[in-house]
Amino acid sequence: MRILVTGGAGFIGSHLVRRLLGHDHVVVNFDALRYSGNPDNLSDVADHARYAFVQADICDAGAVAQALKEHRVEAVINCAAETHVDRSILDPSVFAKTDVVGTGILLEEARKAGIQRYLQVSTDEVYGSVELGHSREEDLLAPRSPYAASKAGGDLLTLSYWATYRLPVLVTRGSNTYGPNQYPEKFIPLFVTNAIEDQPLPLYGDGRNRRDWLSVFDHCAAIEYVLAHGEPGTVYNVGGGNERENRAVAETLLRYLQKPGSLIRFVQDRPGHDRRYAVDCDRLRRLGWEPTVEFEEGLRATVEWYRTHEAWWRKIKSGEFRAYYEQMYQQRLAKGTACAS
Ligand code: TYD
Repeated sequence: MRILVTGGAGFIGSHLVRRLLGHDHVVVNFDALRYSGNPDNLSDVADHARYAFVQADICDAGAVAQALKEHRVEAVINCAAETHVDRSILDPSVFAKTDVVGTGILLEEARKAGIQRYLQVSTDEVYGSVELGHSREEDLLAPRSPYAASKAGGDLLTLSYWATYRLPVLVTRGSNTYGPNQYPEKFIPLFVTNAIEDQPLPLYGDGRNRRDWLSVFDHCAAIEYVLAHGEPGTVYNVGGGNERENRAVAETLLRYLQKPGSLIRFVQDRPGHDRRYAVDCDRLRRLGWEPTVEFEEGLRATVEWYRTHEAWWRKIKSGEFRAYYEQMYQQRLAKGTACAS
């Protein structure tokens, strides 16, 4: 297929672009290259014969229309998003703009261009905090951060294009994703790179919040599978089946790096911090897909990737990231407490 991937220079997007190129698709990467979009993520495929890059924003309707037409695009996968909860707490407005308005513009241009498949890459965070049990696709959405609320808005807009216009849309709701090339603002790459530098690991609250970890390789495989086999107008949860407490993840990655547990600092919690996410993935299993990467194995390989790709993350950490890190963590770390055990 001729597929336009938005946000293709980001973490999940770049792995998806590479995967799709490996499966004979023509791939147009449409990315605004904002702070987390990184051309280094795709340097190995930049000259590929079936790859094209367009630097533009999904909020730019003209640029979207032109890319769809010029590259005779048949399917759209929307990975472009503002994705970090902590940044959404500092500045929510850009989240509504990209994740809601941008999604709406992309959908409208896809409809006008007669696109055959549109897949919205979403998140399990739209269900809100789930103390017990597992979220199903039909559950009420109860997002609690500006990020999650913006993604929920994007999901609803996407589904409305099936009900109203019969645009064949699909929505995937992935759980917490980890792997190589993840911007180091997120939990795992932040903790791994801080540990390599012998810097403290700022663990929010009591460190007992739970997430279900999904390898980026599994996540991309699921997106490709749903694009090919999903029922139009349908949402699919994508979980890794690896529910862990944050504290346990931090301890495991320190062990892999042979760094002391004393690097962990308990710091002031994130406002509205969701306690737990967990998704029921029965629907996707029935469609014929299941994850394959076991968490400890995937984490070990991820730690190894950051250990052997210092140039990749040091470039990021010495740039825009620095000011963000200070704003987010300086006071927290000054008041934090060391790990008891
Ligand atoms: P994150 O990677 O931000 O993903 P999300 O909030 O979307 O699940 O965080 C994962 C978990 O790690 C979450 O419970 C918050 C926690 N966390 C910390 O304890 N310290 C940190 O510095 C960060 C970034 C996250």
